[in-house]
Amino acid sequence: MRAKIIGTGSYLPEKTITNLDLSALMDTSDEWIKSRTGISERHLVSSETETTLSMAVNAGKSALTDSGLLPEDIELIIVATVSSDFITPSTACMVQKELGAVHAAAFDVNAACSGFLFALNTADAYFQAGIYQNALIIGVETLSKIIDWKDRSTCVLFGDGAGAAVLHADPEGIIANLQGSNGEGGHVLMCKNRTNNNPFITTDTCPDYLYMDGQEVFKFAVKKETECIQELLSQAGLVPSDVSWYLLHQANQRIINSIARKLKLPLDKFPSNVGHCGNTSAASIPILLDEIHRSGMLTQGDLILLSGFGAGLTWGAALLRW
Ligand code: UT7
Repeated sequence: MRAKIIGTGSYLPEKTITNLDLSALMDTSDEWIKSRTGISERHLVSSETETTLSMAVNAGKSALTDSGLLPEDIELIIVATVSSDFITPSTACMVQKELGAVHAAAFDVNAACSGFLFALNTADAYFQAGIYQNALIIGVETLSKIIDWKDRSTCVLFGDGAGAAVLHADPEGIIANLQGSNGEGGHVLMCKNRTNNNPFITTDTCPDYLYMDGQEVFKFAVKKETECIQELLSQAGLVPSDVSWYLLHQANQRIINSIARKLKLPLDKFPSNVGHCGNTSAASIPILLDEIHRSGMLTQGDLILLSGFGAGLTWGAALLRW
C-alpha cells in the first residue's frame, strides 16, 4: 500500500503585506521584488493568537473535513516546520491535542522547505511497511519571527502559512518518491537557535536570524530540482509531458520558470502562488496543492509531481496519482 492524498487544507494569515508596504519600511521597491522573485504580496501573522500551532490546526481541520475522516481515525501526525512555537513539545503533539486525534503518534520533521515532502515520504514508508492506514501531514511556518527585518535581501521573500494533507493507504497513491541531503552545503542557508545563556560558555556573535546566500541557493535549486524530477520520471518510465501538474516549492517564480524551460514544458503545467504568498517554506507545496484542488483544477487520475528543495541542504520529490 502507498500513501494517497484524500483531503487537503490550508490557512493563510489575514494580514497581507504588499511590496509597497515593505518599501515604506526599507530601501526596496515593488519593481525590484516583483522582477527578481515574482512576489507581489505575502501573508504575515499579526496577532499573538495567530501562531505556528493555530495555523497548523486550522489547515489540519480543513484537510480532515475535506477527507471525510474523523480525528480519531488518524494514526500518525507529522508536522514539517522550522519555526515551531516551542522547542518541546513538538507542534505535531500540540496539533494532536487540539484536534483530539487520540490514536495518533505525532512528531515534527525539520527539513526546511523540503519538509512537507520528507513528511509525505515518511508517511508513505509507514504505509508501505503496513504500520498505518491514515495519516495527517502538515507543513507550517511562521518565518516572520526568524527572518531579519533589517536584511532586505531576505525579509521581502518570505510569508507565513500552513498547508495540510490527509493520507490513506491505497494501492494507487504515490508512484515514486525520493529525498536527499547534503550537509556540506548547509552554510548557504542557515538560522541559529536562540542565544545560549549558559554561564560556562562564551557566547559567540553568530546572528539569531535567517542567513541566506541567495545566488548559491538559486543555482542549487534549479539544478537539484530538475535532476529530482528527471530521476522520478525515469523511475516511473514517463516523459515530462505525461505529468498533469508540477507543484514545485514556491521560492521564486524565476526558479520555477528555469525548471520549466529545462524540461521544455509550458509554464501552465506549473501552477504557482508565490505571487500572493511569498516563500512559505515547508507550507508552500501543500498550500498550493490545496488551492488548486479547491479551485477544481484537479481531475481524478491526474499525475502530479511535487518537488522541493531547502536548507540543510535538502531536497525531495514525489510522483502521485490524484
Ligand atoms: O526556500 C528558501 C530558498 N531560497 C531561495 O530560493 C532564494 C534563491 N535566491 C533568489 O531567489 C535570489 O538570489 C534573490 C531573489 C534572493 C536575490 O536576487 P539576485 O538577482 O540574486 O540579487 P542579488 O542578491 O545579486 O542582489 C542584487 C542587488 C544588490 O545590490 P548591488 O550589490 O548590485 O548594488 C543587492 O544589495 O540587489 C540588492 N538588493 C535589493 N534591492 C532592493 C537585495 N535585496 C534587495 C531588495 N530591494 N529587497
